[in-house]
Amino acid sequence: MIKGEKIRLDIHNILYSIYKLNKNLNNSSIKELINKHNKKDKSFINNVLLNSMRLHVHTSKIINKYINKKIGDHEKILLISSITQIVFLNFKEYAVINCSVEIAKKLNVYHGFINAILRKILKDKDKLKDIKVNFIDLPNWFKKEVGFLSKTEKTTFLKNFYKEPDIHIVFKNEYNLNKFDEDLIKTSPISGFLLNKKNIKNKKSFVNGDWWVQDFSSFFPLYNYKKKESDRKFLDACAAPGGKSFQLLSKKFDLVTNDKSSTRIKILKDNFKRLKFDAKILNKDFIKFDERDKYDLIVIDAPCSAIGTIRKNPEILFKNKGPDFIKLINLQEKMLDKASFLINKHGSILYMTCSFLKEETVKQIEKFLKKNSNFQLSNFKLINKDKIYSKLIKDNLMITLPDNILNKSIDGYFAAYLRRTK
Ligand SMILES: C[S@@+](CC[C@H](N)C(=O)[O-])C[C@H]1O[C@@H](n2cnc3c(N)ncnc32)[C@H](O)[C@@H]1O
Repeated sequence: MIKGEKIRLDIHNILYSIYKLNKNLNNSSIKELINKHNKKDKSFINNVLLNSMRLHVHTSKIINKYINKKIGDHEKILLISSITQIVFLNFKEYAVINCSVEIAKKLNVYHGFINAILRKILKDKDKLKDIKVNFIDLPNWFKKEVGFLSKTEKTTFLKNFYKEPDIHIVFKNEYNLNKFDEDLIKTSPISGFLLNKKNIKNKKSFVNGDWWVQDFSSFFPLYNYKKKESDRKFLDACAAPGGKSFQLLSKKFDLVTNDKSSTRIKILKDNFKRLKFDAKILNKDFIKFDERDKYDLIVIDAPCSAIGTIRKNPEILFKNKGPDFIKLINLQEKMLDKASFLINKHGSILYMTCSFLKEETVKQIEKFLKKNSNFQLSNFKLINKDKIYSKLIKDNLMITLPDNILNKSIDGYFAAYLRRTK
């Protein structure tokens, strides 16, 4: 096989294992397969992988226009990545078709069929670029979960879910932002969207630990947190890789950080080192925390479907199976229950998810308040009451779809402050 074919065969195998075997892009076997390539090929692979997943609703619709019989998984995935390269990435068409035909031979897929379909698609390429997807084209599990969205919200989701995300960064303090020498669209005195997305981790100010990457939506709830006189001890119960902990530590709060995953704790430690932060780090199951330890603020950035981060994690809608909702919802509920026993009187739980699905968000809060009459939903007070920021809060809950502010992308997100009153 020539080099282009070998690279594209690796792309095919990765897409297949995400689609069929439910793997994530950051799975160690996938990372290993990508890392064996040189820098230029890695960037080619990531480009094709991410765009094939982001645009798979579009490319699947194109496939259905040309084929009216059921096709196998290998054929489907091979066509998805080839169409992405020809129609949306404008790669050299004949190189793509030749490589796909050779890969089809390797996979024992009828290569004449792949060749014929891709040649037909090539002829219609310019017209196909503008293919529109509708809500009905999205995966069934997703449509079932979001029946509650209004027509306008569905349109917002359709407009945004497949686009490349922007990069939002957060500084340790105003001084670090003010001496930053790159173009930035400021979202607060300590944060903004980075305009030059290239090689961001090589920038001197990043290496020096002046800032970290954190989506605006995920930054917003703690940015608006006002410390009370009585607040002494803080806990970030699901902390890794660390965004919320960095926010709390940059305010010099007395913080305990915890995460169940030892792999993710390693990443958190590396991040603390770069940012020159120091805090007590635990590697425990939060559900099993000792209830004698009490806190004034517990942050639960709960494990969830992560559907709000669809632009960064396009595999969520690409996989042929939806998330395990029963397991996730049960875990989220147990975490909230646990936190209710660890909170000092007048303290708060900040419950957050990078999801906007009712089951993981509003319904969890409703269940919690029903069970715990000694808690109430706090006012979500904003530091900056500008219209673009207030639109993120409704009935004292922060809830947003993958959307835009200041013409830049933000994740879908949810946050609620629950205050212990008695
Ligand atoms: C949404 S992520 C947290 C992101 C993090 N707060 C940040 O801002 O970078 C959820 C985290 O929960 C952790 N987790 C899952 N189950 C847990 C449990 N039972 N106890 C503690 N952490 C858990 C996962 O390892 C994962 O790192």
